[in-house]
Amino acid sequence: MDHSTEGPGGGVARIGIVSVSDRASRGEYEDRGGPGVEAYLSDVLTSPWEATVRVIPDETELIRATLVELVDEAGCCLVITTGGTGPAPRDVTPEATAAVLDKELAGFGEAMRAVSRPHVPTAVLSRQTAGVRGSALIINLPGSPKAIRECLDAVFAAVPDCVDLIGGPRLETDPDRIEAYRPH
Ligand code: MTE
Repeated sequence: MDHSTEGPGGGVARIGIVSVSDRASRGEYEDRGGPGVEAYLSDVLTSPWEATVRVIPDETELIRATLVELVDEAGCCLVITTGGTGPAPRDVTPEATAAVLDKELAGFGEAMRAVSRPHVPTAVLSRQTAGVRGSALIINLPGSPKAIRECLDAVFAAVPDCVDLIGGPRLETDPDRIEAYRPH
């Protein structure tokens, strides 16, 4: 979807949104994760951006290939996945993500698990991670639609500075929602 009309001219940030779910990808239920991420970004970002959306099954190779395509070919500066972070046999998103990262940023997972724990005791089951590939930041979120806002609220203040540091476009946020912290 195009969110690029409001901002001033110049670079439009491309953001990948990847729902990882066997059932959503088969159409057995409606994907609520991807639209939840897109709604969050629409709420928080004030600079122009464009979403590239994928809904894929929990297959390691496909997740890896999708992340590589979104970063290396589509030129996304940020890719957010939702789902597949738990302990079940088909949950492979963190491994597939780690396999394509140049650098892991473990603080993202730590912060998101910490903020989720008062909401759900099972937050400790999420193995979600994040990191950098080239000029892109990749962040895993759990599959629960409720987790999206809780987890992104916990880390999003650091996202614009991270994207600056890796050479991506300048992301601006609504300070009434999330005040971007830019120490650099
Ligand atoms: N974090 C938040 N904030 N809210 C949640 O509902 N669900 C937990 C956990 N983290 C949850 C959460 C559960 S039950 C699991 S199994 C793991 O995330 C992994 O979920 P996933 O496999 O759907 O990614």
